[in-house]
Amino acid sequence: MATKETLQQTVRELLGDRLLVVVSNREPYIHTFSGDTIECQVPPSGLTTALDPVLRACGGTWIAHGSGDADRQTVDGQDRVAVPPDQPRYSLRRVWLSKEQEEGYYYGFANQALWPLCHISYVRPVFEERHWETYRAVNEIFADALAAEIGDQKAFAFIQDYHLALLPQLVKQRLPNVVTAQFWHIPWPNPEVFRICPWKEDILDGLLGNDLLGFHVRYHCNNFLETVNTIEAKVDYDRYEVTRRGRKSAVRPFPISVDYDEIDATARSQDVKTEMERLRHELGLDDEIVGLGLDRLDYTKGIPERLLAFGRFLNQNPKYRGKVVFIQAGVPSRTHIGEYKRLNDQIDDLVEELNWRYGSGRWKPVIYLRQHLSPTTLMALRRLARFAAVSSLHDGMNLVAKEFVASRFDEDGVLLLSPFTGAARELTDALLVNPYATDHFAQAIRFAIEMPRAERRRRMGRMRRVVQENSIYKWAADIITFLARLSPWE
Ligand code: G6P
Repeated sequence: MATKETLQQTVRELLGDRLLVVVSNREPYIHTFSGDTIECQVPPSGLTTALDPVLRACGGTWIAHGSGDADRQTVDGQDRVAVPPDQPRYSLRRVWLSKEQEEGYYYGFANQALWPLCHISYVRPVFEERHWETYRAVNEIFADALAAEIGDQKAFAFIQDYHLALLPQLVKQRLPNVVTAQFWHIPWPNPEVFRICPWKEDILDGLLGNDLLGFHVRYHCNNFLETVNTIEAKVDYDRYEVTRRGRKSAVRPFPISVDYDEIDATARSQDVKTEMERLRHELGLDDEIVGLGLDRLDYTKGIPERLLAFGRFLNQNPKYRGKVVFIQAGVPSRTHIGEYKRLNDQIDDLVEELNWRYGSGRWKPVIYLRQHLSPTTLMALRRLARFAAVSSLHDGMNLVAKEFVASRFDEDGVLLLSPFTGAARELTDALLVNPYATDHFAQAIRFAIEMPRAERRRRMGRMRRVVQENSIYKWAADIITFLARLSPWE
């Protein structure tokens, strides 16, 4: 089984003196002002949740956009800060972007064009020439930062996600010997969907600068190969390889995961136990059964669908009124974009409606915590829950589901999981719920609540073994092992 220690060993053996540089848009630690003091926050991002333990174990450099308002105050002369702040293990190098750049590249092309294009959630992508131009320009900025970081050293560049689709090609133009891999953390759509993007070929060219391109599941690899097949390129379906203009790129699935051991250990800590007591008191919980939703507030996560299903459940099962509470915790995200503002309003309205319709006396069916919560509070919430609902309309993997499983060392708790997540392929002992099918979802909530302890234990036990076996260290070791075989220096 791959662990932190075996990953360290793999890296020592395979990377040797080569530099490992990770590049992403989102940074793993964000410094913000809170009055006169500076706080360090961990963002709600599957990408950073997964990669931070890898960098902690292997060391190296992580290049990312410095998005916090106190980020400039905490870097040295080379825009670097050692992280994690309490126990530095690697170096975070921040890239600065102007408001205009952030607007066009992040809020514009990445999150109004590529995000809805790659997720089937019926939000129409917006393709604006000015967003695209800024997206290109910002990818150049990241390429310059990466080239400066690497210089003439031997290096592996590990690029993350849809914000940086053009980066691999730009890096190869600057440093042809750098081995580049990219992991696409979101789904890849079928060619029929992708072809509406006016800059489809530029994006594919950018991505085909990679020596290795990874997706969570094989289905997304297949979609990618089929998309590439629509342009002039040689696609080898047996070897999962693409050759375009004489360059070869391998395409492979690597299902991402979490640091199982760390989550398991933290969940057992006294701090979490104390926090559970504090939360019970603060939220006015007696012996109600707790349901939990934990999300970044995004329209792909199926939050309104989940609340509607919980309402339907209360409607159809009056005997549970007063006995079950659903805690929805989430951090607002990308609120500069209209679609996200509308989502926030919709969730507010639904919570108000459910609490008005079904609440009585001190009991309110939904507790909505729209705020940034500490890792200890999040862990305590996972442990308080009898069931957790992950109801994404579409999701590359979804690490909230795996975090829930890893934190339940008591082998209790039921996971309700959308079949439209990558996680559903591995966590086959979850109760599958189609977020679009409200009645079915409501029945599944009742089923979860009434599931006998022995069956909860059996299912959770099996899911825990799956996550333990396929932890984030296995994901990283598999990618690094694959990359080392491609190394041009031997
Ligand atoms: C998804 C994306 C990540 C992103 C995260 C949070 O998981 O794949 O790249 O970091 O959402 O979104 P944000 O826009 O806040 O970085």
